[in-house]
Amino acid sequence: MIEEKEYKQRRDILAKQLPKKSVTIFLSSTNKKRSNDTEYPYRQDSNFYYLTGFKEDNAALVFVKKNKSVQTILFVQKKDPTLELWNGIRLGKKEAKKVFDVDKVYVSSSLEKRLEEFLEKKQRILYDFDCDNELLSKIKSLAKRCKIHQDVASFVYKMRLLKSPNEIALIQKALEITKEAHHQVMKMRKSEKYEYQVQAEIEYTFKKNGAYSDAYTTIVASGNNANTLHYIQNDKKLCEGEMILIDAGCEYQYYASDITRTIPVGTKFTKAQKEIYMLVLDVQKKIIQMIRPGVMRSELQTRSEELLCEGMIALGILEGELEELLENKTHKKYYPHGIGHWMGIDVHDQAPYKYDNAQEIPLQKGMVLTIEPALYFHENDTDIPLKYRGIGVRIEDNILVTSKGFKNLSKEIIKEIEDIESYSSEYA
Ligand code: GLY
Ligand code: MN
Ligand code: MN
Repeated sequence: MIEEKEYKQRRDILAKQLPKKSVTIFLSSTNKKRSNDTEYPYRQDSNFYYLTGFKEDNAALVFVKKNKSVQTILFVQKKDPTLELWNGIRLGKKEAKKVFDVDKVYVSSSLEKRLEEFLEKKQRILYDFDCDNELLSKIKSLAKRCKIHQDVASFVYKMRLLKSPNEIALIQKALEITKEAHHQVMKMRKSEKYEYQVQAEIEYTFKKNGAYSDAYTTIVASGNNANTLHYIQNDKKLCEGEMILIDAGCEYQYYASDITRTIPVGTKFTKAQKEIYMLVLDVQKKIIQMIRPGVMRSELQTRSEELLCEGMIALGILEGELEELLENKTHKKYYPHGIGHWMGIDVHDQAPYKYDNAQEIPLQKGMVLTIEPALYFHENDTDIPLKYRGIGVRIEDNILVTSKGFKNLSKEIIKEIEDIESYSSEYA
């Protein structure tokens, strides 16, 4: 649980960095139409949520900065008994003033008029260029006189790079639920079922435990489907002898988890599957061990490529000298993606990887990243030994950088072959 005090602190930190004589606007996200008159479940804009913790639609947060003094103003939907009957209770202006430690609260319908006042004599306007709210174009035209239009998102993204203890606790809670979901499907009898039934079991576990939703669409990719990186069709029948790559993580109180496990449909891995699995697992463990403040993410990437390439040579998948293969990027065909990414309010958290001067940002205490090496061998790839064709393995954990090294936040989600096999056979 993150309290208003922490949101206020974030707004204060941001306010200090904002330029003088400026107006800064963050808008809530809008409802997204699904079809006709149905909508997707609403999710607040991540930057707006990071600064307010407010989950309602039709809201805005404005900073008006003179030379040093800053006024913060929150705009919220007006109370409306008829609309509230259909769509749920609104906090309203009066309550919002009690909940949020801001200077002023106004109703959203007055946003444009107020902005005109705020913008008087201001040279600069800042807003989140990525925000998808149709009000943005109105704001831009209102601010035509402002000489400088600046993106404010990068200020917030930088702040989102380091997680507070409360944020880490929420990620940990998301992972507890995600652990239960992954363990549940390891135990379930899967043979003759469909990928969507595994997905259903996972998402049932998420919801049952109070997670709002998945942090991204659940991937249940059996057999050769594992070689499609973002496979979400999830409609193939599960066949004994194949593996399932399950990439699934819940979002809990706006914080993501992102876990991949690759498990057999039945109770045992085949010999060829084990060989690939052991290689990926060994690389993943080695890369996690490298994590500590000061290390670059690119070092983790390079090392993971070297180790996977070496392993593929040893298994007879690649032929030639390690250096030459790496130089020619031959291995990229089988490991085409990054070693991992920042994670937080968004599964691919929009925190920067480089400083403004384009230098890479080293790992620091409080960062959370995924480590997800993988190997993908398509069933039609005649360049590789027959026994490996159709195998795809990814193993993904979520790691916190600590002052001395790292903490694997998902270490309790089992990944050793013996553990997976004994879990699978328990309920077979
Ligand atoms: N679940 C998406 C990813 O692993 O990046
Ligand atoms: Mn990931
Ligand atoms: Mn993932």
